[in-house]
Amino acid sequence: MSTQASERSLDELTLDSKLSLEDLVDRSALREMVHSFYELFRIPLRIYSEDGVLLSDVAEQPAIYAYLNEYRGAREALLALVQRVKGIDPKVDGELTQPCITGAVYQVFAIQYDGRQIGRLILGPFRSPEHREIPRGLLDLDPGLDIAKLKPLLAQLPLAGHDTVTHIARHLKGALDLILFSGHKALLTTNMHLASVRESFRELQEKNTKLQEAYNRLKELDRLKSNFLATVSHELRTPLTSIIGYSEMLAEGIAGDMNDEQKEFVTTIHDKGEQLLELIMGLLDLSKLESGTMSLNRREIEIEPLLEDVASTLQPTARKKGVNLVARNSLGLPGIWADPERLRQVLLNLTENAIKFTPEGGTVELSADAGFMDADDDDGEGGGMVLFSNKRPAVELTVTDSGIGIPDHEKARVFDAFYQVDGSSTREAGGTGLGLSIVKRLVDAHDGRIDIRDNEPHGAQFVVTLPRRRASLSG
Ligand SMILES: Nc1ncnc2c1ncn2[C@@H]1O[C@H](COP(=O)(O)OP(=O)(O)O)[C@@H](O)[C@H]1O
Ligand SMILES: [Mg+2]
Repeated sequence: MSTQASERSLDELTLDSKLSLEDLVDRSALREMVHSFYELFRIPLRIYSEDGVLLSDVAEQPAIYAYLNEYRGAREALLALVQRVKGIDPKVDGELTQPCITGAVYQVFAIQYDGRQIGRLILGPFRSPEHREIPRGLLDLDPGLDIAKLKPLLAQLPLAGHDTVTHIARHLKGALDLILFSGHKALLTTNMHLASVRESFRELQEKNTKLQEAYNRLKELDRLKSNFLATVSHELRTPLTSIIGYSEMLAEGIAGDMNDEQKEFVTTIHDKGEQLLELIMGLLDLSKLESGTMSLNRREIEIEPLLEDVASTLQPTARKKGVNLVARNSLGLPGIWADPERLRQVLLNLTENAIKFTPEGGTVELSADAGFMDADDDDGEGGGMVLFSNKRPAVELTVTDSGIGIPDHEKARVFDAFYQVDGSSTREAGGTGLGLSIVKRLVDAHDGRIDIRDNEPHGAQFVVTLPRRRASLSG
């Protein structure tokens, strides 16, 4: 289709394409020119395109025609004559004379452009100086015709010699050439512009297709990667459970006493095994979230107990690091519609990070507040209803720390899988870089949103906004 279009545009640009008179001339310029010639010479004149379309006309009906039209025989003869005049083909550069039943004549000239006939110029009816008498045949057309009435009417027809008419025609054609030329120039410019627009559009389309293909390929690769991760993680988990279980039993002395060094080695095996298991569980979660196979078990849950639970779970970790962990009172807040296990996982991840990236003596605070969120934040069905209600009630769960903080340019990236902000403090802290990407996906699955803000004077603040009610019940 695109090649066809460009061939077409090329064709439009060449001179030998079939240009028609109506394509080339500016109608108002043509009308003006024809009128000024008529004002000068008072000879009726018409311009037809090659297809017989009347483009300009300044002929008033001559009085003699009006008279003749009253008599049937004369009327028919006039009609036939007009048809004949319209049909005359003078050929390129040619000129033909067509006598009228009144003895006057029409003179038809070819209009040509670029060596091709593209229209006709018809001058007349006018009478030549030699012609004064009513032709005999005219009276025979209808018995009602009266020679006494015809004579003065005939005298009203414009008078012009053949030379004069040829002269007028030559000037007319000269002026017309100018109009045609400027018209052609304008047409070429427009076409050139059109062609270039079409060409850029085509290029854009091509690039778009290529991009789409690349995107599809990447998506497929991503899917394969997720499948692979899911399978591998699943297969790794079973033997790993054994490693952890047996090393634990060894350390406990179930298989006999061990010396201190042996115990230390086995404990390391156990700890590293736990770390690995955590990573694998993270990968499994992520692949389930990516493939959309993780099902949420949502129900109405209270916020206060959830915050208390997360805080007390991580209290030992915080204490070990010398970080002060508090859950601010959020009694009286309405419940939210969420999966309690998954929401707990979200808050645990965020709080764990907050503790991890806060130096000794710092504070981590969990809190909840009532708020609102845009109804179209989740690209769900609510989007079309923005006009009616673009805010829906929400709850904001906030984890604030006084730690190292997150630079602005890293804020979006920390949600990528395996991404960790560079710097020795991060490296020291360990971890896999999966936590936040799981958090983000879990929040998305809840039709919620997560934002990172700065805590003043230093530290980070993660805000999870979740809709308070079921999507179908809200808005
Ligand atoms: N509260 C925080 N303060 C400072 N940096 C943070 C905080 N939370 C997350 N980060 C940064 O985001 C990165 C990704 O976090 P996450 O996905 O949980 O991975 P991990 O905790 O395993 O490193 C972290 O490595 C850290 O660089
Ligand atoms: Mg983490």
